This record gives sequence, structure tokens and C-alpha cells, in this order.
Amino acid sequence: MIGLRADAVVTWEDGALTIVQNFGVHTARGLTPRIAALFGELPGALADEDELAERLLLAGGTDQEVALLYLALGRLRPTFVHTVEYTGEPLLRIVPVARDAVFEVPELPADHVVRLSRFALVRQDAGELVLESPLARHKVVLSEKAMPLIAALSRGVRVGEAPEALCHLVAAGMARADDAEDTDPALRTWEFHNLYFHSRSRMGRHDGPIGGTYRFRGELPPEPALKPLPEGPITELYRPSLTEAAAADPAFTTVLESRRSVRQYADAPVTARQLGELLYRAARVRGEIRPPTDGAPYESSNRPYPGGGACYELELYLTVDRCEGLDQGVYYYDPYGHRLVTLPARAEDARAMLTLAGMSTGGTAKPDVLITMTSRFSRMSWKYAGLPYAATLKNVGALYQTFYLVATAMGMAPCGLGNGDSDLAARAFGLDWAAESSVGEFLIGGAPAQG
Ligand SMILES: Cc1cc2nc3c(=O)[nH]c(=O)nc-3n(C[C@H](O)[C@H](O)[C@H](O)COP(=O)(O)O)c2cc1C
Repeated sequence: MIGLRADAVVTWEDGALTIVQNFGVHTARGLTPRIAALFGELPGALADEDELAERLLLAGGTDQEVALLYLALGRLRPTFVHTVEYTGEPLLRIVPVARDAVFEVPELPADHVVRLSRFALVRQDAGELVLESPLARHKVVLSEKAMPLIAALSRGVRVGEAPEALCHLVAAGMARADDAEDTDPALRTWEFHNLYFHSRSRMGRHDGPIGGTYRFRGELPPEPALKPLPEGPITELYRPSLTEAAAADPAFTTVLESRRSVRQYADAPVTARQLGELLYRAARVRGEIRPPTDGAPYESSNRPYPGGGACYELELYLTVDRCEGLDQGVYYYDPYGHRLVTLPARAEDARAMLTLAGMSTGGTAKPDVLITMTSRFSRMSWKYAGLPYAATLKNVGALYQTFYLVATAMGMAPCGLGNGDSDLAARAFGLDWAAESSVGEFLIGGAPAQG
């Protein structure tokens, strides 16, 4: 059986049949109003292709129109919902989710074994059980009766055991009739969660909303531009003169060309004054907090590094081992007041953070100061659909490079890290992991003498 998604809109204008779905538009010309009327009945409905032809004849259609109908059905096949029935009920409902969906049901020999793609996942979505895969341009809505087949597919099932359902699952990209996922280097090297994230955080392969949709406007208030200051003793930080810094800095190209990741430190520890200058030049709030406007209905700010939507969801925490003028401990950086708040972190958590960071450098660095970047996730996800986490990681990259360049200009030892323990960081900083947790780590220390 075939149909169209319930949200499809079918129009017939100036001799063109247009099917608009939330992921794209398909148009067919050369049809007749009677054929267009049949397509107009398809959103949210199901029909057999031959039954459509009979309905066309009953409505006065000619043999030529029937031939045209079959041509149109072939041409518009990628837009259709396909179902596989079992005891009169849809067992599988295969729904296109992408403009470039193709649906060709293969004819496979009965003794051929097919397996569930290792990229496929089953989840609940809007009360339905849905099978998805980042390799597919369809999703499959499953009836409960389909679950034993899906479970068996993880081990492999001979096509002869359920030919129609299995060949349709292969056509939908959920089951594999070959071993390409294990042999094609492009697929073999992907892990499930990374490929899913890649497909879902960009356009092209899903039917979800993406971009600045202001998902929660009117439902939830946006988080403020500044995180409410945690309780704790305050340490005011040094504020450098930017004029003096500009005069003392090496030329931009010299900074860029001499930038390196440095994992060894001078005997003398970094100083609180240096940390103050680094944070001021790389990460403070420049100027005033901007109030919401019609165009940007949330508070925003401006900082030396760029940030998607000016949301500036990243927060900075310092775990200090050695710093002249600053006690060992864990601090929150207030980017507006340019000061540190001492957090009541347990010493063993602070130690574990520094040890893990050292291990991330292959054991080369014994970190003096670890800067952990967390994200107040809902700053981004209040505004953006689909991409907020991907954008946050890009923002982390922008901040890394800003730290790298300022630290290099200041003659310090910078090194970005690729991993950290976000559970440990949430515990150390007293955070709710789902609301705010770590997304980046950066080491800073005094540069060792050259030579
Ligand atoms: C996102 C990112 C993650 C990194 N992760 C690590 C890491 O975990 N451990 C480490 O020692 N260096 C890490 N680095 C530093 C890179 O190894 C370094 O930038 C690269 O080798 C190039 O050397 P250079 O920075 O000295 O030019 C990371 C750098 C970036 C940008």
C-alpha cells in the first residue's frame, strides 16, 4: 500500500501537481486534474496502486490517463509512505524524511540472510515506535507485532521467513543485505552515536526542525545571559590595559605562526595576574548585557571570541594546582565582573580533574591550571532546534583558538584537550549534568624557557 504523509500538502495549479512536505517539494507536470484529485486524497491515507487506477477509471478516466497515473506513481515514488501489512494491519509504515529519498524494493533470494543495520535505532517518538538510521532517508513506524522480527534481525534472518517485510526494511535502509557496514572503510570507521549526531545536527537526512526556531518561546523563559553567581568567596582578577597589551604583543602573524600546544611548564608557576589578563583578553563580557529585542528575544552579550547567536552558553571553571597569588582549588569565572568565585569542591575531585587532564596529554603535562568549559545547554536549545549541541562544540573551538592566541601572545603555555569527564566536572562544580556540564578542557601554565 502507498500513501502520503499526513502533513503533505498536494496542490494542482497551472498543470503542475506539487507535493509539499516539511523536507522538500516535488512537482510533476503533464498530468490531468482527475489524476491530481487522486493524489489529493493520499495525505494521511493508504491505497493500493491498482485500486487508484480503478478509482480513476470510475471517475471517467481514460486508458491513457491510467498509463499516466502509473508513470506519475513511479516518478513520485520517493515521496510516498509505503506499508507492509500483517493480518490486515500495517506492520511497517515506511515514511520518507528527506528530499532525496529513494525507495526500490530489492528482490532477494529466500535463503539470503539480512541483518539490522548497526546504525539503526528504535525509539518512542510522539507515542509511536520508530526505527531510524542516519544512513536512511526514511523512518519506519513499527507496530508492536513487528518487534519480534526487529529483534531477530539483530542476529540475522533468512529472507524467506518474511520476504515482503524484510525486502522493505532493506529498501528503507534499516536492514542490510550486504556487509558494507563492516567492509566499506567510510562506514566501518563510524560509530553509531557519532553518525546519528552528524545526520541529526545538520539538514538533509531527517524531517525534524532545524535552526533558530525559538522552540520554547512563550513556554519557557530563556536563561539569562549571565549565570547567577554561585555562592562563595570572591577573588577580584587583574584587569590589563588593552592599550598596553596591544603595544607589548608580538605582531599578529608572529603570534599565529608561533602558536603551539605546550605541555610542559616553567619551574615558576603561572601568576594570578597572568590568569587575570588571559581571561580578560579572551573571555570576559565586553560591554553591557543586551536586553531582548523582537529579533533576538533573549539577553545576549559580546565577548572577544565569536559565539553562535551571541548566546554565550559557555561557562569557565578553573581547577588550580599551582598559581602564584591564587590558592589551590576550584573556581567559577564570572565573565561580567571579571572575578573568581571559590567553589566548595572536594579536594579529591579537583585532583582527579587535574590527573585526567594530564592523562589526556599522554601523561606529558602535569597541569598547573585546568580551564574547564561547560555549557548552559538551554541557552542554545531554547532558540535552536537540531543543531544546538553541534553549535556549542563549534563555540568551544572558537574559544580554544582565542585562548591559544592570547596565551601565545602573552608567552604562556596553552594546550587544548579533546576529552574530559563531564560527570566528574558536574560533581566538582556542583552542577546538574543535564542543565550544565563540561564540553571542553584547556590547560594553561607558564611557558618553559626556550632552548
Ligand atoms: C579540539 C582539540 C583537542 C585536542 N586534544 C588534545 C589532547 O587531548 N591532548 C593533547 O595533548 N593535545 C590535544 N590537542 C592539541 C593538539 O594535539 C595540537 O593542537 C596538534 O597536535 C597540533 O599541534 P600544535 O597545537 O602544537 O600546533 C588538542 C587540540 C584541539 C584543537
